[in-house]
Amino acid sequence: MATDITNGERCLILAVETSCDETSVAVVENGTNILSNIVSSQIETHRRFGGVVPEIASRKHVETMTRIMEEAVREAGVELRDLTAVAVTQGPGLVGSLLVGIVAAKALAFALELPLIGVHHIAGHIYANALVQELRYPLVALVASGGHTELVHVESEGRFRLIGRTRDDAVGEAYDKVARAMGLPYPGGPYVDKLAQEADEEIELPRAWLEQESYDFSFSGIKSAVLAVVNQAKMKGDVVNKAGLALGFQNSAVDVLVTKALRAAKEFGAEQLLLCGGVAANKGLRAKLSEACDETGIPLAVPPLSLCTDNAAMIAAAAYLKWKRGEFTPLDMKAEPLFSLEEWSVMRA
Ligand code: KG4
Ligand code: ZN
Repeated sequence: MATDITNGERCLILAVETSCDETSVAVVENGTNILSNIVSSQIETHRRFGGVVPEIASRKHVETMTRIMEEAVREAGVELRDLTAVAVTQGPGLVGSLLVGIVAAKALAFALELPLIGVHHIAGHIYANALVQELRYPLVALVASGGHTELVHVESEGRFRLIGRTRDDAVGEAYDKVARAMGLPYPGGPYVDKLAQEADEEIELPRAWLEQESYDFSFSGIKSAVLAVVNQAKMKGDVVNKAGLALGFQNSAVDVLVTKALRAAKEFGAEQLLLCGGVAANKGLRAKLSEACDETGIPLAVPPLSLCTDNAAMIAAAAYLKWKRGEFTPLDMKAEPLFSLEEWSVMRA
C-alpha cells in the first residue's frame, strides 16, 4: 500500500498541460473527480501548415493561458485558496510550449504557497484511465498518439517500465503523413480511419514486426509504401484506390499494435490492458483490440475520447500519485523535452 499523507483531507489539484498544441487547465478532486477540464485546441491555426509549428504553438499558449486558467477555476466552482497543489506537464514535448505551462504553474504555486508537481506526459495519458475506473496491477498500457507509440508495463501504482517504443514515426504521425499524401486535411488520422471503413477492397501492405522478441514499433516503412503507391499511380496517370490504400495501411498498423500489446499483456500477467492517446479514437484499432482481449480474457480499458487526447485532467490524475506520497517538485524545475517515464516513477511503492 502507498504511504498516504492525505489523512482524509480533500485534495484539489489544479493541473496545466501545454506540451504540444492544446492549452489545457483542469481542477480534479481526490485524483478522480473532474471538476473542470478546459481544453483549447490550436488545430485550426496549424492546419494550414499541415502540422504543428512549434513557435506558433508557444505564442498561442501564452495568449490563452490566463483565460483558460481562470475559466478552469470558475467552472470548478472553487476558490484559489481551496487548492491543494499545482501540477504541470514537465515533458516530453515541445520545449517552448512546455515552458509556457511550467512558468504559469510555478507562478501560481509560488503565489499560493502550494506544492508543485511536475508530471510526465505519458504517465498522464496512462492515468487518464484512473479518471473513469479503478486500475488493477500489474497492467500494460499501449500509448498511441501523434507524438508517441509506446508499450508500458506498470507493475504497481506509479511504477513504469518502458518495454517498447517506436524507432521512427509515431503511429499518429504516420497516419497524418499518409493522409497528407492522399490530399486529406490535417490531422489526417480520423480521415484515413473513415476512408478505411468505406473500402470494399484492401491494398495489402507489409507488416513491420522487427525482431521476434521486440516490443518496438516502426511505421515509417508502411508510410513510405503508401507514398510509393500514390506516386506510382500519379506517374502513370491512374486514379488511386484511396479507400483500399487507407484500409491496407490501417490493417498493417493495427495488426502490429494489437499483436504486440497482447503478447506483452500475456508475458507480464496483466490484469488490464489500457489503450490511451489520440489514436485510441481509431475504430479499427478499438475493434481489433477489444476482439483480441475478449478472446484472451484480458480486460481492456479505453478512456472516453475527450480524455484520450491531450488534456490537463489526465495530468492531475497522474500528479495525484505523487501528491499522495508527498513527492513534490522543486520550484526551479526545468522543462524536460526528452523526459524519461521510468525515472518519473513514484519513489515509495
Ligand atoms: O494524443 P493526441 O491528441 O496528441 C498527441 O499527443 O499527439 O493524438 C493526435 C493524433 C493525431 O496524429 C491524429 O491524426 C491521431 O491522433 N488520430 C487518429 C484518429 N483520431 C486521431 N489516428 C487514427 N484514427 C483516428 N480515428
Ligand atoms: Zn499526448
